[in-house]
Amino acid sequence: MATEQVRITVFDTTLRDGEQSPGCSMNQQEKLRVAHQLDRLGVDIIEAGFPIASDGDFEAVKAIATVIRRPIIAGLARACRADIERAWEALKVAARPRIHVFLATSDIHLKYKLRITRQECLEHAREAVAFARSLCADVEFSPEDATRTDPEFLCRVLEAVIEAGATTVNIPDTVGYTVPAEFGELIATLRRRVKGIENVTISAHCHNDLGMAVANTMAAVAAGARQVECTVNGIGERAGNASLEEIVMAMRVRRDRYPYETAIAGEHLFPASQLLSEITGVPVQPNKAITGRNAFAHEAGIHQDGVIKNPLTYEIMTPQSVGVPDSKLVLGKHSGRHALAIRCEQLGYQFDRRALDDIYRRFVRLADKIKHVEDHHLLELIRETHKPAASATPLFEPIATAVAAAAAASCHESPRVFPLAPQTNVFGMSVPIPIDHPHDQEDYLWGV
Ligand code: KIV
Ligand code: ZN
Repeated sequence: MATEQVRITVFDTTLRDGEQSPGCSMNQQEKLRVAHQLDRLGVDIIEAGFPIASDGDFEAVKAIATVIRRPIIAGLARACRADIERAWEALKVAARPRIHVFLATSDIHLKYKLRITRQECLEHAREAVAFARSLCADVEFSPEDATRTDPEFLCRVLEAVIEAGATTVNIPDTVGYTVPAEFGELIATLRRRVKGIENVTISAHCHNDLGMAVANTMAAVAAGARQVECTVNGIGERAGNASLEEIVMAMRVRRDRYPYETAIAGEHLFPASQLLSEITGVPVQPNKAITGRNAFAHEAGIHQDGVIKNPLTYEIMTPQSVGVPDSKLVLGKHSGRHALAIRCEQLGYQFDRRALDDIYRRFVRLADKIKHVEDHHLLELIRETHKPAASATPLFEPIATAVAAAAAASCHESPRVFPLAPQTNVFGMSVPIPIDHPHDQEDYLWGV
């Protein structure tokens, strides 16, 4: 009998909590590029920023709210009028805006940071949510440091904000302190004890200080949370946030244990990871689950032997299912535009025909000088070719799939194979060139 799948909402906070981490700040144009990729990835909600934090962030949230129309666009606000008004100012153009209000509730935060009593905290939270709700129909409330808050007081605050109109209550493990069994129990307790909670969405927001952000998130979902807050590559304050790609793939690979589904397009996970890393300049750790460069590499002889005989021996998911190219096309001076377009897409870039022409011209010149054009060369070249001021062509075209990009690149001809420079698979071994197209290289230097 098929297990019923429960739909989980993916709330991506790469552009807010992720962007707050050292070395990860992004300007408006960079945020927009990431937002386009998140849209392609299929996230349900993009938290685009914290509008009161700076004029730049305000403009970035507004630009994203204007341009990205499918997902809900959220903006963060402290529990005060000025923040909420500023957030609304940036968000009101959105097709589906959400105001995200937060206020700390733990005694440690109340005493040392906010210097207010529990009663004052409860009143501020209630008033802030009521005000946000008077502006926007979709309001999320987060009791910051929830996992170190007295559970009884947490229940009272959540009851108050639900009564005031919150539509989502997010439970943050702000300092990455909780452990899976405890966090699951907390969610279960809230579901039992908070009046009206059955009418709102419960969300989990976990930090990774003890390396348990994803495990804690999964425990929350198992206990009834239906929204997960996460970031690409797990970037975020200190040790980071729960990693989007790990949550999504845990649900996919272990459907037997986690009968939940998301709307994420798996093949866009690796491109999203690459794009973010390229924009922030923060590399992905090589052994990072799902998107690290070693995640699908096999070095040990016994493993290589097993995988060659059958990938199932040592691979629990296929590289293609997360968008990692299965066989690396070696890009050299004989490569065509089609191969170049596909490699660019694998790195998170889609170009229209004119933009690709530009890149291709420079690529051939470079390939003439160096034998193999590696990914970092290509990224450099893309950056050079599309310096924001000089670029007349938008960097991203709303081309939905690799097929579409390839079709555009090959001038409406049917897709061809690329018997280019020797191809290798993930083990660095040569792979045979299909014999039905022995030297099919029609687009070599096309358009130059
Ligand atoms: O970690 C946290 O508590 C937050 C809130 C603002 C949701 O990021
Ligand atoms: Zn956070």
